[in-house]
Amino acid sequence: MYMLKPPFKIKVIEYTPGAALTRAKRARAIARAGYNTFLLKSDEVYIDFLTDSGTSAQSDAQKAGLELGDEAYAGSRSFYHMEKTVRELFGYRYVVPTHQGRGAEHLMSRICIQPGQIIPNNLYFTTRRFHQELARGVWVDVAVSEAHDPKNTFPFKGNVDIKKLLRVIKRHGVKNIAYISMEAAVNMAGGQPFSLDNLKKVRRISKQYRIPLYLDITRIFENAYFIQQREKGYSKKTVREIAREITLFSDGCTMSAKKDGVVNIGGFLAMNDRDFFRRAKEEVVVFEGLHTYGGMAGRDMEALAIGLKEFSRDEEVAYYVSQVAYLGKELRKRGIPIVLPVGGHAVFLDAKRFLSHIPQEQFPAERLTAEIYLESGVRTMERGIVSGQHGKEPYDGLELVRLAIPRRAYHREHLDIVVDGIEKVFRRRKYIKGLKMVYEPKSLRFFQARFAPVGRMK
Ligand code: F0G
Repeated sequence: MYMLKPPFKIKVIEYTPGAALTRAKRARAIARAGYNTFLLKSDEVYIDFLTDSGTSAQSDAQKAGLELGDEAYAGSRSFYHMEKTVRELFGYRYVVPTHQGRGAEHLMSRICIQPGQIIPNNLYFTTRRFHQELARGVWVDVAVSEAHDPKNTFPFKGNVDIKKLLRVIKRHGVKNIAYISMEAAVNMAGGQPFSLDNLKKVRRISKQYRIPLYLDITRIFENAYFIQQREKGYSKKTVREIAREITLFSDGCTMSAKKDGVVNIGGFLAMNDRDFFRRAKEEVVVFEGLHTYGGMAGRDMEALAIGLKEFSRDEEVAYYVSQVAYLGKELRKRGIPIVLPVGGHAVFLDAKRFLSHIPQEQFPAERLTAEIYLESGVRTMERGIVSGQHGKEPYDGLELVRLAIPRRAYHREHLDIVVDGIEKVFRRRKYIKGLKMVYEPKSLRFFQARFAPVGRMK
């Protein structure tokens, strides 16, 4: 059997007008969008694999929670429900809600980083790194070298290179390190997990040097599931138990609740340190909202409390990851170059190998997203030089296209249509040319940059 049993059936459906669009209409749509899939209208899209963020399907219990949400400005019952759930699942003492993940990253960076301080990270996530730098911190990569090699099948590409971390600490001095930042199921490397063994080693260093360790637990359940499947000694533990063990080895976290929390909007930061909490409460009222809603509606906090409990169940995560694995396997069968091993929430195409004749300065991954859309109405996302290049920092060199699967939202038929479309693009790949950037926004340029084709779209 390819995919595991879906632990649910379908009660509500959503029609996708983009299914009826002709190729000629898609060609006009992508040209109008400046060849950037972020600028397409969702009605122009058939299967939306742009992101798994805020796009997952909610359960009947979550929808009921939306009705039960307490919209009190202060002291909302739904906040306390969410706070209790986060405490139970992750064990942190204090929880501060934010409107989404980047709101939490903003507050953490403002509070925990002094100008010039270094933040060692296992690769980067766009918004996390941006907020670290906005707080005048210096992002430094300490990921294992395997994370940079799309062909390497190392099972824990989210690991920190312990020697690199120690070198950074020794070179800059403990006082100049703000905190160690570690992301679960590293998005930019293909949804790749860290091992608990590696996390424990990082934790030992963080304790030894008294440097806080903060996690990004946005996709913690996929990371926990991979530990259960791949790491010795964890096969009998539940995803929930492993997730709890992960958070035990840290001082706090940020979370974009739009992924493993299965809500449309929301996030939080959580911590054990009382001073950090006090500062976070002071800052959240300035940038997000009162500390008992932080930019979230009561209904979303209610749905989040329920969503976290649901999605931390083994059968939910296992089914989701098996969908991703199926997509990866079918693409590989057709010889399409993807990042290995396949990650938790997404399959990444390796655009450098897919369009090996297009130099990276001509944005092969961006062009590939446009071609996939043109071929089949499937929306994917560039995760290459457009997303990665940032000021004068050296770029990690990956040139990927991400196919992120929203949770509980698509059938196997959808996955097969995606595979067929990409195979068609693959067959005509040698006729595809690059792009030139015609508009570049100042920050997080991938969201709004515009391009023009170097060659004609076929
Ligand atoms: N951390 C990780 C690992 C993320 O993947 C994201 C968002 C964030 C933080 C920021 O959270 O969007 O709620 O402000 N990732 C989305 C994605 C955008 O498509 O991967 P946010």
